[in-house]
Amino acid sequence: MNPGTSTTDTLQVLLSSVQSDLDQVEAWLEQRMLGGPAALAPLLQYVARFRGKRLRAAYVLMIAKACGGVRPEHIEVAGIVEMIHAATLIHDDLLDEAVQRRQLDCVHVEWGPHTAVLLGDWVYSQAFLASTHMADQECSRVLAAATSRVCEGEMFQNLTRCNFHLNESDYFLQVDGKTAALFEAGGQLAAYYAKASKVQQSAAARHGLLSGRAFQVVDDLLDIEGDETQVGKSLGTDWAHGKMTLPIIRLRESLPTAARKSLEQSFQSDSSREDLRTGPFADALARAVCVCRTDIDAMLEEAASQLDVLPERSIAAELSQLTRFLGQRNR
Ligand code: IPE
Ligand code: IPE
Ligand code: MG
Ligand code: MG
Repeated sequence: MNPGTSTTDTLQVLLSSVQSDLDQVEAWLEQRMLGGPAALAPLLQYVARFRGKRLRAAYVLMIAKACGGVRPEHIEVAGIVEMIHAATLIHDDLLDEAVQRRQLDCVHVEWGPHTAVLLGDWVYSQAFLASTHMADQECSRVLAAATSRVCEGEMFQNLTRCNFHLNESDYFLQVDGKTAALFEAGGQLAAYYAKASKVQQSAAARHGLLSGRAFQVVDDLLDIEGDETQVGKSLGTDWAHGKMTLPIIRLRESLPTAARKSLEQSFQSDSSREDLRTGPFADALARAVCVCRTDIDAMLEEAASQLDVLPERSIAAELSQLTRFLGQRNR
């Protein structure tokens, strides 16, 4: 990404070909969120202001285009995927004790933990309900399975909290569940509702999985070195809460035994990301970040190779630009 260009500007350019579809998704979401009971209006209005980058919606629409074109079902799938994503964030922020999300106070900070748990459940149920209104059960089936995997990934991550020795394959097992599963499902459903062949659906799903993996590694880098004002959410919570992420795995792997022990002590203590970035591991951390960037590039390259089988080659090029951008974003 050009250093002088903001993530928002770059995204707008990259998504210009699906902007009118994204506007429809936005209207669909507003209707769903604000259509709840009047007694909950202040809460639902707050959540309706709680808008993210809409990358998953954009991703669904771009895959749809790459498979032949956006249909009305894609608007619904994109909206439902965004609602599920929003529900997981409302819960995730409570679990991570985060205070800021999407430039606003987190739901649990503004409305308390009880409301956050219930609202997350409500948003998820509304999404699921919307999926049952579709002409067939494919959307419900695929997204129910994906949401189960999101929960499994989050639970597995919770079970391994403070485990300094977490290996790379367990890390990716968590990431595939908590983050990549929803991109994978989005890719699969976008291809399915574009009436793509089974082979094309599998390629789109695999593209989503690999892009989602890369997306989470970028998120893990942002947690260490991102700017909170720019990203708009609490950062540093992974290190502070003993979540082992790829940058720390790469750092750990690069250290000799004595330094590794010292990193472990720091990981188990209540040190902050600033301590990590400025302390004795600063140089090794910068190198580990570079290794992660190479990891991200490899995942995105493998993702791009899935696009060869999709029918609309010109859109495949646009999609690759989008996923390359996901690997370089700063919010
Ligand atoms: C944040 O996702 C949660 C992760 C899976 C890393 P996004 O960065 O897409 O969040 P929003 O939707 O833009 O807020
Ligand atoms: C993604 O992981 C969580 C979900 C899929 C809900 P993170 O915990 O790293 O996401 P952020 O950093 O809070 O957005
Ligand atoms: Mg979190
Ligand atoms: Mg994170």
